[in-house]
Amino acid sequence: MAAKKISSFHPPQRVLMGPGPSNINPRVLAAMSLPVIGYMDPAFVDMMAELKTLLRYAFQTDNQLTYPISGPGSVGMESCFVNMVAPGDKVVVCRNGVFGGRMIENVERCKGTPIIVEGTWGEPVDPNAVEDALKKNPDARIVAFVHAETSTGCVSDAKTLAEVAHKHDCLTIVDAVTSLAGCPLKVKEWDLDAVYSASQKCLSCTPGLSPVTYSDRVIDYVTGRKDKVQSWFMDLNLILNYWGHTVRTYHHTAPINGLFALHEALLLLKEEGIENTWARHQRHYQALKAGFEAMGLKFLVKEEKDRLPQISTIMVPEGIDEAEVRSKLLSEFNVEIGAGLGPLAGKVWRFGLMGYTANSANVMLCLSALGSILSKMGYPVKVGEAEAAAHQSYANQHTSMAQKARSRS
Ligand SMILES: Cc1ncc(COP(=O)(O)O)c(C=O)c1O
Repeated sequence: MAAKKISSFHPPQRVLMGPGPSNINPRVLAAMSLPVIGYMDPAFVDMMAELKTLLRYAFQTDNQLTYPISGPGSVGMESCFVNMVAPGDKVVVCRNGVFGGRMIENVERCKGTPIIVEGTWGEPVDPNAVEDALKKNPDARIVAFVHAETSTGCVSDAKTLAEVAHKHDCLTIVDAVTSLAGCPLKVKEWDLDAVYSASQKCLSCTPGLSPVTYSDRVIDYVTGRKDKVQSWFMDLNLILNYWGHTVRTYHHTAPINGLFALHEALLLLKEEGIENTWARHQRHYQALKAGFEAMGLKFLVKEEKDRLPQISTIMVPEGIDEAEVRSKLLSEFNVEIGAGLGPLAGKVWRFGLMGYTANSANVMLCLSALGSILSKMGYPVKVGEAEAAAHQSYANQHTSMAQKARSRS
């Protein structure tokens, strides 16, 4: 059989409106293609310091140990657990979606005991249920929860959950993979301990990096551990010598060009201003929501206050083939959206408006493409009504912003 000739790979241009990765600003892609330098080059070391400063801004913290882990969000998650959970430790883990389930796996693999607080998928973690679990388990050391559950589009009240945890002398592990830069996340003000994220969601950077930040409480615990952290690669005690101090020693070869890209993505965030970035996600979500509602589509997350602006989970209407809709969006309109995970597979679509992807052109394209596909499949939608509703939402938001500006001046 003749072998297929392999040529250079040219990916298609897609509009990435799923749960991540999101589209990337050309400035970030350009940074990625700059010449590689050594990971101990003085210029690189200077850039690492800037990266840490920019990450502190993104996380809204002044934690000294704030840096990007070489690896995707899952490595960030695992790093928190392997460093903070010793064999026999009890960890309260809140599960209201797929990613809380992965936290439980992590506790078990660290030979800890997970105390599971089960929640409803599509509803936030209940702080009272966490409090009950802590009362029943006064020897628990950690409370772990997902701030922004990407599998459902639901946000939990991280501030209150951290208050409950600290009242019971527990540290917190917080998954901020989808929340960082997409909605308010205030590590210092909310007093969160170990927080991890990922580069490919609302930071709109290339995938493969996991920004993390650790409070001094976490560093004190990890540096004081008598046993060896079971992962060599993730052991904070060793990583501190590369990312933590001014004198750097080799730990592993950093993903140099990925870090150039992250530096640029974070600079873009700083230039826009984090509050403006949060507001932009909210503005485009409002328009997308208006369009969905005009089409008669329903959200999985019932309460508006619990919804993440950066990911909308929409119930698939009766009689509609969900996979066919996703496949047509991709093949006919170049728009990628996400499927449901776990028990939500086949029941929902997930529409992301993350980072660079969150703009009005994408909102309009998505509504128009979805309306056109659904109407061809016999779903009663009048093509054009959703776009009109989104336009109206933008117009209303513009008017209320102008009124606010007038009342301030
Ligand atoms: C909430 C949450 N946690 C963890 C992860 C894992 O991140 P990654 O896929 O970058 O390993 C994801 C990925 O979608 C996520 O949404």
